[in-house]
Amino acid sequence: MRRIAVLTSGGDAPGMNAAVRAVVRSADFHGLETFGVRDGYAGLIEGRVEPLGARAVSGILHLGGTVLGTARSPAFRTTEGRRQALKHLDLFGIDGLVVIGGDGTFRGGDALSREGHIHVVGIPGTIDNDLIGTDFTLGFDTAVNTALESIDRIRDTAASHGRLFFIEVMGRHSGWLALYSALAGGATEVLVPERPTDVARIRERIRRSFALGKRFCLVVVAEGDDAGSAFEIAEAVAEGVDVDHRVTALGHVQRGGPPMMRDRVLGALLGDAAVAALIGGADRAMVGQRCGEVVHTPLERTWSTADRTPEDLLTLMDRLAR
Ligand code: F6P
Repeated sequence: MRRIAVLTSGGDAPGMNAAVRAVVRSADFHGLETFGVRDGYAGLIEGRVEPLGARAVSGILHLGGTVLGTARSPAFRTTEGRRQALKHLDLFGIDGLVVIGGDGTFRGGDALSREGHIHVVGIPGTIDNDLIGTDFTLGFDTAVNTALESIDRIRDTAASHGRLFFIEVMGRHSGWLALYSALAGGATEVLVPERPTDVARIRERIRRSFALGKRFCLVVVAEGDDAGSAFEIAEAVAEGVDVDHRVTALGHVQRGGPPMMRDRVLGALLGDAAVAALIGGADRAMVGQRCGEVVHTPLERTWSTADRTPEDLLTLMDRLAR
C-alpha cells in the first residue's frame, strides 16, 4: 500500500474532520501518501481528487461539518458510476480508500471494493449512532449535547408557562438520539421508530402527570416515529389534555457545530485505526470502538444487522419519568 484516499459521505457529522486529520497524519507517519476526495462518491465519480499533506489538515480538528464536503450520490449506486470512480482511483494510483459515513456509505464502499482492485475501510460517522460494531459513531455525542442545550432552554420556558412541549430530534430510522436526549434532558416520554407509538397511552400518562401536580412536560420525538411528525403527534395527544402545548423541531441544528471532546478523540482514534487496518491488509471492514478496544466489523454487517436503541435504556427512561 503506497497511496490512500479519504472521503466523507452521507450526512455530515461533527468529528469527521478530526478523523480526516488523523487519517492524513497517520498515513504520513507510516510513509503513505494521502489524497482527499471532494463531496464523497459524487466527487470520486468526477475525479475531484487532490493530494492532502500533513499540513493541509492543520486547523480543522475543531470544525464541525466536513472540510472535504459530502453528498448523497444516486449515481454511485449504479455500476457505471462506480466504474468511473474506480477509473479515477486507478489514475491516481490509489490502492486504499477510507470512507467516513453511515451504512449507505459502507454499501458503496463494499461494492467498490468488490468491483475493483481497491481495499476499503470504513469509519462510522453519523449523528444517528445506528451502526453495530462500535459503541458510538462520530457525531453522536456532539449532536446529543446540542439537542440537550435546546431542551434545557425549552424546559425553562415550559416550566415558566406550565406547558406541554413536543421536541422533535433527528433520526429517520433510529431512536438513539431521541433516547439519549430524553434521558439526559429529563423528558416524560420518548417516541422512537423502533417502538410502536400508542398515542392513547401517552395522552393518559401526560394527563395523569399534570393531574398529580407536574407543572410542565417534555416529550422527545424521533423524526422517524411511526405515529408521524412531532406536530401530528402533538395534535393527537393534546386533544384530550387540557394543557397549553407547543412544538419545536430541532432539525439540522443538531448536525452542526464544533465537535465535543468525545468526537474529537474518537475521530483521532478511528482515523489512525483505519490507516493501520489498510496497512495490515484489511478490506471491506469498518473500524469501531467497543468497550475501549478497536474492533473490525465486516462492512456488510453494518446494513444487514440493525443497531436498535437499547431496550434497557428505554425501560429506564420510563421508570425515571415521574
Ligand atoms: O445523517 C443522519 C441524518 O441526520 C438523519 O438523522 C436524518 O434523518 C437525515 O440525516 C437527514 O438527511 P438530510 O440532511 O439529507 O435531509
